[in-house]
Parts: sequence; C-alpha cells; structure tokens
Amino acid sequence: MLQYFQTFQRGAPMKKVQWSLIVSIMIGLMVFTVYNFRAKGEDIHFDDEQEDLTDQIVIKFSHVVAENTPKGLAAQRFAKLVQKKTNNKVKVEVYPNGMLYSDEAEFEALKQGSIQMIAPASTKITRTFSELALLDLPYAFPNYEAVNKALTGNIRDELLANVKNDNMFGLAIWNNGFKQMTTSSGPLTGPSDFADQHFRVMTGPVIQAQFEALHAETSQIPFNRTYQNLTNQTITGQENTLSNIYSKRFYEVQTHMTISNHGLLSYVVLMNQGFWDKLSPELQQNIQSAMKEATNWNHQHAVKMNQQALKRIKEQSDIHIYDLPPERKEVWRRQFEEVYDRFDEEIGKSLMEELEELREKYK
Ligand code: LMR
Repeated sequence: MLQYFQTFQRGAPMKKVQWSLIVSIMIGLMVFTVYNFRAKGEDIHFDDEQEDLTDQIVIKFSHVVAENTPKGLAAQRFAKLVQKKTNNKVKVEVYPNGMLYSDEAEFEALKQGSIQMIAPASTKITRTFSELALLDLPYAFPNYEAVNKALTGNIRDELLANVKNDNMFGLAIWNNGFKQMTTSSGPLTGPSDFADQHFRVMTGPVIQAQFEALHAETSQIPFNRTYQNLTNQTITGQENTLSNIYSKRFYEVQTHMTISNHGLLSYVVLMNQGFWDKLSPELQQNIQSAMKEATNWNHQHAVKMNQQALKRIKEQSDIHIYDLPPERKEVWRRQFEEVYDRFDEEIGKSLMEELEELREKYK
C-alpha cells in the first residue's frame, strides 16, 4: 500500500494510470458504437411497416400473343394506367409471347396464384365457364357494331357474372376481331374444301364442333407451337385473326387465306380471387378504373390493327387472298347451323335471346 502510495506520488506511474483510463474509455466507446450499429441494423430487418419499394404490390400478367397486337398493347396500357392511378403502389408486369406460361398452363398458374392475371381466348376456358360458348358461335355477330354492343352491354354483364369460380373472376372482355382461315393446301371457298384439311385449333367445344361441321381433321396445338407445325406440315391450316396471322408470321408458311370473318376471337381478362381480396377497396377501385380505360382502348383499336395487319401481309407476301362474298358466306353460315343446335342449351335461354335480338338489330 505504502509502495503504491509512493509510486502514485512519483509522477511516471501517474501517466500510466491516465493512459489506461483513456484506453478503457475508447474501448467502451467502440463497444457502444458497434452495439448501436447492430441494433439499428436489426431494427431495419424487423421493420413491420416496410415503407419503401419492397412495399410495392406486383401483378404478374401473362399472355401468349405478341406485344404489337390488340391484347398485347391493351395489357401494356393497363399496366401504365394502374401504376399511375395507384401512385406506384401497384406495378403490373406484363409477360407476352407465352414467355412465362403457355396457353395450356396459364389457367392453372392463375388458379394457384403463381400469376395474378391472364387474358385467354374465351374458347380456352369454356369448359369451366360454359356460357362463354356464345362468343365462339360461328357467325354469331353480323358486324363489328354488334360485337361492340355485345362486349360492352347486357351480354358482357351476363357472361362476366358467370365467370367466378376456381379462385378467379372475370374483370372484362377484350376483343381481337374476326378470325380468318389460312391453309397451305388449296383455296378455301366452300365447306367442301375443308374435307382434306388438317387444321390447328384452339381448345374448346364450339371450335371443335365448327370444324366437325366442315368435316376437317383437327389437332389442338398451343398457340406458340402453331408456326412450327405449319412449317413442318403436320397440319395444313389454322384459323386466327389478322393481327395474330401477321405477328406470328403464319402468312409466310401458308399459301391461301380466306377472309371469312366467320367467328370472333375475344378474351376474358381474369384476376386471381385470393390476391384481389387482399387489396384495399381503394386499390381495387383504381385497378377497375384502369381496366375500364384499357378495355375501351382495346375495343376502339382492335379492328384498325387487324386492317393494318392485312395491309402488311399483302405488302410482304404472295399469299392468295380470297374475300368470301356474301352469297358464299351464306353457304358457310348454313353449314354451321348444327353448331347452334348443339350449344344453345348450354349457353342458356336468356343469353341466346339477347344474341338473337342483337342479330336482328345489326343485320
Ligand atoms: C390462339 O391460340 O390462336 C389465340 O387464342 C391466341 C390469342 O391469345 O390470341
């Protein structure tokens, strides 16, 4: 103790004490800083409010056609509108050309919630929503005025009211215009020209019945494998809209096209129900409003885009184009009467009456 007192008194040991004090304080400060830093890091990790971009809700919208088509462009327009109307809270990611799912797989993916939106051709979901068969009936609509009325009025409302099942529901019906027939084996002027044809068809009972009425052989082939099958001639022909025939270059591997306008290609825009139910009423309203605008745009532009596609096909190929005259159209129409007999019960009295009224008004 005395020794200690002595050293304390002497000066040099006094400096030692001061140094150890400073070092202790510094170590203390370092420990405090590291602890504080970690605590803050943990705070970020467990921040329940997540008020940053990770907060953004993403809608994956998958479809099978090219971007420059009535469906492809309407989907892009919808995406932009949603982002604007929700103030960036919802982002719609559009996946065209079947890059995420083929038309065979997208329905199941929507049901499971792997994606939130699809817009398949109505025929492809008719087995689940049977009333939609109305949209595929051959020569159901005499002209585009009648189509527009059907896709915006009572027929649309009645059809959509029934599209609610399997964890999905219908938001709107989009249009891609009337279909035409193409083939690599001779012109298609009358029903008898189909006897030796082998057509690629979309899935769906009405389309199947339509080709049965024409006595043509058919194979159900996904949209994005059609070009390849036409090229290697496992099939001779296919039916589609001009925008699809052009954007998927079917016209390059076909020799004849008949402008028959024999059936409509429409799309039901579907949303995953579980996902939708978790959105706030305000976001739901924003999305509905974006869909309304995108749908109007689609209805206004589909016909024009098909006309442009026809012009380009004519400019870029030697395909023989046959414009089906009214008297021949009448022969085709009569050939398809049996299709109506097969489906009117499934579609239901009320919808068939609505359709009849529309046909009378616009014929
Ligand atoms: C087809 O399979 O031919 C069309 O349904 C593709 C589409 O979605 O327009």
